[in-house]
Parts: sequence; C-alpha cells; structure tokens
Amino acid sequence: MPYYQTPHDITLLPAWQQLAEHRQTMRDFSLRQAFAEDPKRFASFSMDSCGLFLDYSKNLVNEQTIALLMRLAREAGLQPSIEALLDGKPVNASEGRPALHTALRRPVGEQVLVNGQDVMPEVHRVLGQMTDLVGRIHSSLWRGYSEKSITDVVNIGIGGSYLGPELVSEALLPFRQRGVRCHYLANIDGSEFRELTARLNAETTLFIVSSKSFSTLETLKNALAAREWYLASGGCEGKLYRHFIAVTSNRQAAIDFGIREENIFPMWDWVGGRYSLWSAIGLPTALAIGMANFKELLTGAYSMDRHLRDAPFERNMPVLLAMLGVWYQNFWGARSHAFLPYDHYLRNFVKHLQQLDMESNGKSVLQDGRPAPCDTGAVVWGGVGCNGQHAYHQLLHQGTQFIPADFIVPVVSYNPLGDHHQWLYANCLSQSQALMLGKTRAEAEAELRAKGLAEAEVQRLAPHKVIPGNRPSNTLVIEHIDPRRLGALVALYEHKVFVQSAIWGINAFDQWGVELGKELGRNVYDSLTGQRPASDEDGSTRGLIDFFRSRHRG
Ligand code: F6P
Repeated sequence: MPYYQTPHDITLLPAWQQLAEHRQTMRDFSLRQAFAEDPKRFASFSMDSCGLFLDYSKNLVNEQTIALLMRLAREAGLQPSIEALLDGKPVNASEGRPALHTALRRPVGEQVLVNGQDVMPEVHRVLGQMTDLVGRIHSSLWRGYSEKSITDVVNIGIGGSYLGPELVSEALLPFRQRGVRCHYLANIDGSEFRELTARLNAETTLFIVSSKSFSTLETLKNALAAREWYLASGGCEGKLYRHFIAVTSNRQAAIDFGIREENIFPMWDWVGGRYSLWSAIGLPTALAIGMANFKELLTGAYSMDRHLRDAPFERNMPVLLAMLGVWYQNFWGARSHAFLPYDHYLRNFVKHLQQLDMESNGKSVLQDGRPAPCDTGAVVWGGVGCNGQHAYHQLLHQGTQFIPADFIVPVVSYNPLGDHHQWLYANCLSQSQALMLGKTRAEAEAELRAKGLAEAEVQRLAPHKVIPGNRPSNTLVIEHIDPRRLGALVALYEHKVFVQSAIWGINAFDQWGVELGKELGRNVYDSLTGQRPASDEDGSTRGLIDFFRSRHRG
C-alpha cells in the first residue's frame, strides 16, 4: 500500500537493517582501489536516459550496495508510490490533495482524473491561452497604452512563482526570441524594485503577477507598487489591463486587484508552487523562448516521467540519485548535498533546487504525523563552477564534513571561445576526480621532497597538504542544454525529491513550516510601526525594534 496511506517506519524494514550492516563492511571502501580492481566500473555505474548521461561510478558503492538500496526501495513500496503520484492519488496527505505537476506535461489524449474529472482538457486549454498570449505579444498585436510593443516582461512572484521560471529562462537564454527580456521581481525590498524599474519603460512593460494563493505579502506589495509606478510613469488607468496579467488559483483575488478576467491564467491546487513552472507560472519563460520551445521543455519532462514509471529501479535515474542520497544521509551522516553546475546558463539552478528539495523534504513527521524515525531532507547548496573552486571547494576537499556532490556539465557550449569550454569541462572532471583521489601523506611528502624542501619543512607542511579523498560525487553530462534536455533535467530532480520522500514516508508537497514566520511577521510589523505595543514581544525582538525605531529614516 502506498506510503501516504500507511506510512512505514523505513528503519524497521529488513533492507534497512541489511544496509546498516553493509555500511560496516564498507568502512574501508576505497574508490581508488575500486577503480583499480574493476576496469569496467565506469560502464557498470553509469547510464543515460532522456538525453542525460549519469556517471555515478565515483560513489561509495559496490554492486551489493546498489542491490540493497533497490531492495529497500521495493520493501518501502516505491513502485506503487510512483504510480500513486502519476495517477493523481492524494499523495499530499495533510492537504488531501494529489500532486499532479506531471499532468501539466502530458500530451493530448491522455486522461488524468482528479475527483473523478479529467483535468487534461483544462490543462491544454490553458496551454492554448498561453499560446495565444505569447503569439499576440510576439507579433505586437498586444500593445501597451501608447500602442508600443511589449519589450520587457516582469514576473512578480516569489518562491515557486519565480525560481522555476527564472531557472528556465536563464538556462535557455540561447533560445530567447523576439527580444522579449524577462525580469524577476520577488522580494519586498525597495532596492530590488527601484533597480529593476529604473531600467524599464512603462509603455513597453508587461507585469505578470504570479501567485498561486494571490495572498503572498511580498507579491501583493510589489504588484501594488508596480501599479503605482505604472501610473506615475504616465500609464493611464483605462489601459492598465494591457500591462497587468495574473497567474493564480485564486481568481477572485486577482479580479479584486483589478486584473481583467481574460488576463487571468488559472493554476490548480493540485500543483505545488515549487513544481509549477510547467503551468502558466511558466509564462515568462514562454514569452522569452516561445511556445514551441516551452512545449519542448514539457516534452523533456514528460520523457522523464515515463522513465520514472517504466525503468527498473537499477536503471532508473531519479531512483538511483534518490537512493544514493538516502545512503549518504542515513548511513554516512551526510547533512548537505552540493550542486555544482559547470555552465553559466545553469548558474541559478541551485536556487530552484533549494526550494524544490528543502521545502519538500525539510520535514520531521511522517504522512500520518508520527515523528520521522530517521534523518530526512539534506541542506542543498552549491553554485557555478569554476567559481566555487575559488570559494568553497576547499571545504569539500579538506573540511571535516562529508558532503556528496552533483556535478552538471554540457559537452557543447553555445559560445565557444578558444579553449575555454575545454578548460571548464576539464575542471569539472578534475574536481570530481580530486574529491575521489585525494592526496595521501606519502604523496604529499614526495611532492614536497621533489621541490627540494628540507626534511623538517617536508614534515611541517605535509599534514596541511593531505587531502582525504574518497568523497563521492555524481556527474551529469548533457550534450547541450536545450529545452527538451532541460525539461528532463528539472523533472529528474523533482522525481529524485519525491522518491526520497516516499522512502522516508514524509509529505513532499506541503509546507506548514513557513506559516509561523508569516504569522509572527504581521505582529512584528505592527510593533515596529507602533500599531501594537512592542512590549508584547520577547526581549530580543523588542530590543531590535527599539534599535530600528530610534534610527530609522524614510
Ligand atoms: O514558501 C511558501 C510558499 O507558499 C511556496 O511554497 C510558494 O512557492 C511561495 O510561497 C509563493 O506562494 P504563492 O505562489 O501562493 O504566492
């Protein structure tokens, strides 16, 4: 029975115990030795699917490890859980909802029932609505209040209503069409607002208010500020509808804000925010790259959905990544995971992955509310390489923490420049290699002696030059980042996150933890602005409010 109905205690399953025992036998496992003993290791521990090539041979695993991890997946009922996700069962148990981001990329002809109703016709109707808007803007049929074409699109949204679209429109910049520039306004910060609008012309700017709830403070405040900016910049009230559209599941709130009904693009409560870039939330992306490329993005994700459902676990890329993460978090004490894309266009991928992974799996109770019996979601961090090599790779190589890493790198650059891309690619591989090989004390000493250092210096310096090595990493190689492969890549990580949640028995699709901060924010704001006595606050908050009120200007 799928996990969301009778969440298991994963630590009581036989395979979990066998993995714990196996971990003891892996205490002295050496990647150097594993490669030396098995010339076929790379071939055995790599696979390709949906245009992505995964090398997972630099992991602290052998055939038995993989077998036990997949046995655990089977004992945990992973396959029925995958089918429950894809078939629209209420896998989001606390809210009693399905999580059907996969429905957004299904082709015409397939049926997906939610409460007995096929949702696919509506999904494709909205795709048609998007196609119409993109076409009208790209062909200049849609013009601003002074009859000029739209040149800039500003997405006003935060979290899943911004990070996914930003990732995609940045990653697919080489596919940008018609010169429509995409901008993202997320935070409730006048500096962000001013810096952006200073570069914009109200006559040619379209604001997309993207908010599933249409109640997010940051988004509503920015939308109001944008409307004031538009009017102050010469925009006329009567043609405001040409410069503001909305994407939301809260239609009435958008109408109350002043968005014309025909300019409201619906989304549904069975699509989580961090999984929504495939919906009309992806409008800025579609405006940037065109609908044909947006549909290619959907196709790539759909191919990964099929792969998730159909591929045997041992040859299932999301399952492999997920179970390797379980191995490190639950049996090696890993607390974080580094994502290191070696590609300028993927530089913000980790921002999306942070919300996708940490807002999904940052949970400590099972689907039925019992405390989780084991560690769950990891801290997700990282950034573009080679930059990270000059920032945090020192900790990856010589720090005391055990941090698995995913490297992501394209074979082909859209902007060949001498041998830059060869160096970029070589650095990606060499960082993964250095994590694996490390440098022994003997190697460090030999290196120092070869430089002619006196023995005393050799002994003084050697400890500082030792690199532990044997640190695991995956390398995802993509021939080139195009819409279809990017769709598959993003869906790969969506499914990795889901598989881990299903193994742990937690809900990947709610986010109750963010509610408290929002509630307290209202109180602190009222104390800060004198609408309620600051004395009601704790000593720290009260002191900080006093500090602000004694110095604030403006
Ligand atoms: O962070 C909480 C959250 O609800 C996210 O899950 C969501 O992506 C974001 O805030 C924005 O929510 P909305 O799209 O409703 O404005």
